[in-house]
Amino acid sequence: MTTTSIDPIRWCDDALELLDQRVLPERYEWLRVRDADETAQAITSMVVRGAPAIGIAAAYGMVLAAQRSPESDWPTHLEAAIQRLADSRPTAVNLFWALSRMRAVLERHRHEPQAPGAALLRVARDIHAQDKTDNLTLGRLGSELIARDGQCSVMTHCNTGALATGGYGTALGVIRAAWAQGLITRVHVNETRPWLQGARLTAWELHQEGIPAVLAVDSAASLLMAQGEIGWLIVGADRIAANGDVANKIGTYALAVQARHHGVKVMVVAPSSTFDLALESGAAIPIETRDARELTHQGERRVAPEGIEIFNPVFDITPATLIDAIVCEHGVIKTPEHGSIERLLG
Ligand code: MRU
Repeated sequence: MTTTSIDPIRWCDDALELLDQRVLPERYEWLRVRDADETAQAITSMVVRGAPAIGIAAAYGMVLAAQRSPESDWPTHLEAAIQRLADSRPTAVNLFWALSRMRAVLERHRHEPQAPGAALLRVARDIHAQDKTDNLTLGRLGSELIARDGQCSVMTHCNTGALATGGYGTALGVIRAAWAQGLITRVHVNETRPWLQGARLTAWELHQEGIPAVLAVDSAASLLMAQGEIGWLIVGADRIAANGDVANKIGTYALAVQARHHGVKVMVVAPSSTFDLALESGAAIPIETRDARELTHQGERRVAPEGIEIFNPVFDITPATLIDAIVCEHGVIKTPEHGSIERLLG
């Protein structure tokens, strides 16, 4: 199985370095963040993005907060840091999962005189390393599904690669693994309006590794599917409810409808940290809406009239009924539904 050299999150003793995804692929720049507030800003402004990567960054953000806590009242300082990080983005549950693991460390050390920086760092490193390991498992399990149906080309949406995770990727990890085994002929990459994660990030990752990729506007998907070449639509997730409904990048729902119409199979690939079994269905998942400027402008140029009302939700919910398989590190859930997910995740 291949790995990738793209490693977008680096811990450096007293700072966190993030590969700035706002400027890729034009520029390859690192941003250094030094406290929880700067980490939260980096998450909100998409310096770091993608559900697992957001959780990893937030975990290290808590280590930074611990390093800068006053000895007198570190629990109050760190509780404020958790709140600040939790407010950075609402949809990806990996953020809240990582923060709850950090909070558990704080609980265990509550009566100590100093903030438990070393213990927090151990857990942050563990979250980071585990995500990389889990991605390799996802790649193996997902590529086995492709192998059963035979060689095909695949379509993906948004960026779910090394940039969106601790390394390697979820959906893009499956694609990497499948490519390495000769199972796919090419990858159709949707540009992913409006932030262009597909055009800027996924196309860049695939290009770096020489995996044949074709970039198209999101609205070309039906045409491509109708041409009959695409075997699988492979996407990631930001939150998966107990019934198997999936929140993912805006446009995923439309793609799943189109896929069902054209007989293309839909695979959702996500680690267990992306599941939120407290939510009965996707209807309860909070959907982030972002700045109108993402639609009204292309770079510095205004492309929509002044004063136009804007609706810019950046995620949507794909009903479980449109999904053929959810791949997580514990196994594959076929035709996901309530009991099947709980059984697999224990
Ligand atoms: O807004 P983004 O770029 O953070 O959205 C990312 C996605 O929707 C991904 O598909 C999802 O987080 C899975 S990443 C492994």
